[in-house]
Amino acid sequence: MKSITIQQPGTLVIEDRPQCEPQPGEVRIRVASAGICGSDVHIYRGHNPFAKYPRVIGHEFFGHIDAVGEGVDASRIGERVVGDPVVSCGTCYPCAVGRPNVCAELQVIGVHRDGGFSEFVTLPAKNAHVVPDSIPDNEATMVEPFTIAANICSQMHPGPLDTALVYGAGPMGLTTIQALRGVYGVKEIIVVDRIDERLAMAKANGADRVINNAHLCLKTELEALNIRPTLIVDAACHPSILPEAISLASPAARIGIMGFSADPCVLSQQAITSKELTIYSSRLNSNRFPQVISWMAEQKIQPEKLITHQFPYTQVLEAMNIFEKDQKQCCKVLLKF
Ligand code: NAI
Ligand code: MN
Repeated sequence: MKSITIQQPGTLVIEDRPQCEPQPGEVRIRVASAGICGSDVHIYRGHNPFAKYPRVIGHEFFGHIDAVGEGVDASRIGERVVGDPVVSCGTCYPCAVGRPNVCAELQVIGVHRDGGFSEFVTLPAKNAHVVPDSIPDNEATMVEPFTIAANICSQMHPGPLDTALVYGAGPMGLTTIQALRGVYGVKEIIVVDRIDERLAMAKANGADRVINNAHLCLKTELEALNIRPTLIVDAACHPSILPEAISLASPAARIGIMGFSADPCVLSQQAITSKELTIYSSRLNSNRFPQVISWMAEQKIQPEKLITHQFPYTQVLEAMNIFEKDQKQCCKVLLKF
């Protein structure tokens, strides 16, 4: 089988590998399409502390089950499925409390074990979720990025009383905006980014108001508008953002962070406690695939709006290059297998 492998940081190859075989309890997917994510680029560039090399990357993938391992019902062969990249042990404390995304033995497909940028990938049978025929292949490939938004929203409980502020209008910000608008029906969504073209995407995906903080001071702008956000999502993930979000937040607000920066940031307890703020963090997803598939089936979200490019997998280097370099035009890039 052909697989896209990062042999070592900086070296990406399309290589011939022996076809993978599903282990007991696993299925094999014949991949049809896969999405490029920032974390794939981080593994390629050697910036992901969890990655081991060589690694077949890719954790956003869609295809058909073409083989099953021991103990898996053969009737699953032929199913159209998306793969949940979160592989968990099922017995540790986080798993026992329904949070397999932070399992003590967490194995993320495409990071800790070989992923979906490949003609075939194997994964536990329960990680392969059936997609109804009403959801086209490309949209199905977008389930995983929306599970990130679903996960943070499941913690923050957005609602119609919320004035939401979203930092960052990249793929993560945009999926969050779509969910806040189409699923949770918040009152107002303000989006802040440093790139005008991305702010235009934010508007197209449901933002009511956008602010470019490369040119404007966010605090001054919000004060002039008399806006105190009640729900703030940091989908830009710079360490400077959390302290700013704490200062901008309404009393009783919730703040959600998703970043992995190891750099410290300085917070004051007074700023948090005096307003009794709640700060959530969210990593990957905890069993959110069925929820996002139903959002798509009910057309509460529009995943096709985020797909700006697609390439045959043989052009993966060009695809990665556009994804990395062209933040103005590019959102989600799909590889077709
Ligand atoms: P991206 O890089 O495409 O988008 C980030 C956006 O934030 C860009 O448009 C950028 O202009 C903007 N930005 C940067 N600094 C800013 C600032 N100070 N103020 C306002 N806007 C700012 O990245 P993507 O794919 O949307 O992911 C966003 C972040 O989410 C990344 O840091 C990534 O590591 C993290 N992430 C976390 C996940 C989790 O499960 N916790 C899953 C996926 C991504
Ligand atoms: Mn991703």
